[in-house]
Amino acid sequence: MSYDSAISALSSNALKFVKDDYVIGLGSGRAATVFVKSLAKLIKLKNYNIKGIPTSLQIKSVAEKLGIPLVEADQVDYIDVVFDGADQIDSQKFVIKGGGGALLRENILFSLAKKVVVIADKTKFVKNFTRTVPVEIHPLARNSVINSIKRLGGDAQLRSLDRGYPFFTENGNIILDCDFGTIKNPKVLTQKIKQTAGVLESGIFLRKPDVIYRAKTDGKFDIL
Ligand code: A5P
Repeated sequence: MSYDSAISALSSNALKFVKDDYVIGLGSGRAATVFVKSLAKLIKLKNYNIKGIPTSLQIKSVAEKLGIPLVEADQVDYIDVVFDGADQIDSQKFVIKGGGGALLRENILFSLAKKVVVIADKTKFVKNFTRTVPVEIHPLARNSVINSIKRLGGDAQLRSLDRGYPFFTENGNIILDCDFGTIKNPKVLTQKIKQTAGVLESGIFLRKPDVIYRAKTDGKFDIL
């Protein structure tokens, strides 16, 4: 079974968290895209009055094509439920996000959400984080943040495009992908990263998801 059909099978189950008149946060990436396709079908079938809030231009264009009405995060006081993917999920249910560069908007939506639902395949689940942590920073703080990540025991690399140009986020910022090896205390590390001037967001989110779907093989999944 393909990745898309595995995520699609569990997306149908995750639709139980959607009700008429809901404001729904639309995460970014592959899993979120598959979910948004299922959501669009439900909206049409039930004639729901749903408003979606996109976390990136990537998911915005998917939602637009599917005819999902959209608003921006600053037009609402809260979001009923956010559906998003993740880059890694540890045993304490912290998530690393930002592989696609949408971490700042994603974390704003997480903070506005009454419920956060994360969807990921089983390869993303680890005991302790091992992958790099994306950190969105103001371009002028590049060297100072690289040095402060070093003081925290990390190695920060500027995210670049294939031909070596820096990757800019939709907010006009840059991303440092920071290698801390195995991360045993993600909460403390994130608090320290966020204390540095010029840091706009850390890819380790302090708001944990309320529901996590883990896609296994053959369309099976479990809920954590
Ligand atoms: C976007 O910046 C990320 O946080 C994505 O949500 C994350 O990378 C998961 O994406 P996939 O579902 O494509 O793995």
